[in-house]
Amino acid sequence: MRVIVVKDKAAMGKRAWEVMQEAIMGHANPVLGLATGSTPIPLYDEMARANKAGKADFSTTITFNLDEYVGLAPEHDQSYRCFMNKNLFDKININKANTHVPDGKAKDVPAFCAEYERMMDDIGGVHCQVLGIGSNGHIGFNEPGSSLASRTRMVQLTDRTIQDNSRFFAGKKDVPTKAITMGIGTVLEADSIILLANGANKADAVKKSLEGPITCMAPASALQLHGDVTFIVTEDAAAGLTRMVER
Ligand code: F6R
Repeated sequence: MRVIVVKDKAAMGKRAWEVMQEAIMGHANPVLGLATGSTPIPLYDEMARANKAGKADFSTTITFNLDEYVGLAPEHDQSYRCFMNKNLFDKININKANTHVPDGKAKDVPAFCAEYERMMDDIGGVHCQVLGIGSNGHIGFNEPGSSLASRTRMVQLTDRTIQDNSRFFAGKKDVPTKAITMGIGTVLEADSIILLANGANKADAVKKSLEGPITCMAPASALQLHGDVTFIVTEDAAAGLTRMVER
């Protein structure tokens, strides 16, 4: 695994965009797996900047988001569909019909999840998957204890994740308690993976992912099983690392 330590969030976004471009180079229809949350915003800003400057074209790009809250309609201002439109899709020349976010209002959730996996398969899989990491080590909404072979499904959010995400809602009681998420097994099928982390509150999760045993109790540790993973972490999030890293 490649571990790149950067000074701050802005540098994290720049390096992530460089690594992403290498990963999708040569693909006529690049397929991106995308995450929401605060962490990938500097990357999305870089993508938007490059597009505006005429240095990147997303007209043939296809995207699949990792997750969505169950119960939130796409129009809800805290839905992940709304987040993606606001922070990326509305700022680049992507065809929205080629952007996929799980449907938080799906009537038949298991059927929807199977269909989401089928769509990714039919398209030939994800070329580059972007991940953030929860302070408890989750990727997507695969909370500690998730099977390392898990597929897209509905999950229960932990109290810690609900607490962490309550900053985006009026209060903790307004945070949905369930989500649809790609599984860890799904994520591991991407050709390449970029995990981003910033902030001292991620240091423990980053250390466990990179230097700890592979265990479902630290879901991102499953990335050790993948052959093309790049962690791009700010100095505060890398504080616990003891092995060699790239700067
Ligand atoms: C969201 C997702 C989550 C977040 C994680 C970190 O799509 O996949 O795993 O990446 O909760 O969130 P932030 O970036 O807000 O700290």
